[in-house]
Amino acid sequence: MYFPTITLLSSLLLSSGFVHASPLSRDTGKASLTISIKINTVGVGQLVEKERARIQSLKYATHDSSGRGSFNVSNYGVFYTAEVGVGTPPTYHTLLVDTGSSNTWVWASQPYVATNSSVNTGNSVSVTYGSGAFYGEEWLDTVTFTPDLVIDQQSIVVASRVAGLNAFDGILGLGSVDQTHNSVNNTFEVPTVTDNLYAQRKISQQVLGVFFSPASDSEHDNSGELVFGGYDKSVMTSPVRYVPLTTTTPAAYYWGINQSIYYGKIMVLSSTAGIVDTGSTLIYIASDAFQRYQSLTGATLDPITGLLTITSAQYANLQTLTFNIGGTSYGLTPNAQIWPRSLNAAMGLNTSAIYLVINDIGSGSGSGFDFVNGYSFLQRFYSVFDTTNQRVGFAETVHTKSNSN
Ligand SMILES: *[C@@H]1O[C@H](CO)[C@@H](O)[C@H](O)[C@H]1NC(C)=O
Ligand SMILES: *[C@@H]1O[C@H](CO)[C@@H](O)[C@H](O)[C@H]1NC(C)=O
Ligand SMILES: *[C@@H]1O[C@H](CO)[C@@H](O)[C@H](O)[C@H]1NC(C)=O
Ligand SMILES: *[C@@H]1O[C@H](CO)[C@@H](O)[C@H](O)[C@H]1NC(C)=O
Ligand SMILES: *[C@@H]1O[C@H](CO)[C@@H](O)[C@H](O)[C@H]1NC(C)=O
Repeated sequence: MYFPTITLLSSLLLSSGFVHASPLSRDTGKASLTISIKINTVGVGQLVEKERARIQSLKYATHDSSGRGSFNVSNYGVFYTAEVGVGTPPTYHTLLVDTGSSNTWVWASQPYVATNSSVNTGNSVSVTYGSGAFYGEEWLDTVTFTPDLVIDQQSIVVASRVAGLNAFDGILGLGSVDQTHNSVNNTFEVPTVTDNLYAQRKISQQVLGVFFSPASDSEHDNSGELVFGGYDKSVMTSPVRYVPLTTTTPAAYYWGINQSIYYGKIMVLSSTAGIVDTGSTLIYIASDAFQRYQSLTGATLDPITGLLTITSAQYANLQTLTFNIGGTSYGLTPNAQIWPRSLNAAMGLNTSAIYLVINDIGSGSGSGFDFVNGYSFLQRFYSVFDTTNQRVGFAETVHTKSNSN
């Protein structure tokens, strides 16, 4: 059952508290929004299972009819949220930052307050799950990221009731507009927040820069930043290098790219398509690649959490895991391949154990959706989602080689 398990997510959170949005200067044609990290302290036992279910639902979503793929989140480990104002004056909602979906949602945990800028379109949205469904109404309203970054008449889906999803008040959908097709009744597609920022000339290009600090930095307020209209060079230690979006489906329905993966000098995944996803905690790779990685690292699969574990001796021998994307190598250091040990206790994990963040996507390679680069990757590399030029870019940051885990 979907809702009852989700309820677990809602209760115990180690939240760093909400931080305030801080705009960059306007003349750069971009503005930034600070995001906070939240850590679900009860979820790790279900993390892998739930994330894998989400990945399967993305992979097999129907893209031409019901828009079902446009809503399914399962952030059981670590997730990032932004404080977003809706209405005039704004009511603030804590929204999940999700590049894996494209509609923006608010629901009843922080009730939607209709104001004089709110227009009910009369259109409805229904989302069907294996075990149930829920409904929402579409409104157009003013959305405030920062005082300098305000969107007029943004489509918002107001869900009447989403049982259990209290850990956040909704979703900030940062995926492509294609994922909104037929998601709202009587509507072919719904302009996303980035589409509207661009159309309303609030940003000069349809580009989103995403900077996540590692989860182990959760004590710090400044857990990350979204930049609309560009990216933040000040946190980068290399130039941004781009790769075109993949043409391989189903990865192409999302922020999909081609990449190959090497453990040391040994190839574990030959060039194939997959996605970059701010809605997943770990890095998932095709089952055959996962088995190669497990055997090369000597890791053991922990049956309780579904995570790989390694001994200190194996950690000492861990090789760099290199992601080759568009001819550029992005190396995950040994430290970047392990779950932050400072979080083991809070997550109910064995405090003496070392867990790996590479996991099994649950099906073999060659499916057109063979990896998911989730937070564990995005915390180490700045990512740039460029709709205008249909490409994704990455850059190194101060966190790329840090020993934060
Ligand atoms: C959404 O994900 C859950 C697992 O978290 C899964 O059980 C459910 O079937 C998925 N829904 C859809 C529509 O794919
Ligand atoms: C809407 O309400 C806000 C404050 O409640 C007010 O400042 C604004 O002028 C109102 N706008 C209109 C069009 O009435
Ligand atoms: C969508 O609209 C059609 C007719 O416009 C209606 O028959 C249908 O019930 C609506 N669907 C939902 C989920 O409200
Ligand atoms: C990605 O890989 C597929 C399959 O090998 C290939 O057809 C395609 O040209 C590659 N590049 C892009 C940008 O999709
Ligand atoms: C915790 O991990 C350590 C190191 O791997 C191991 O020796 C110990 O048996 C584990 N404890 C439990 C309860 O699994």
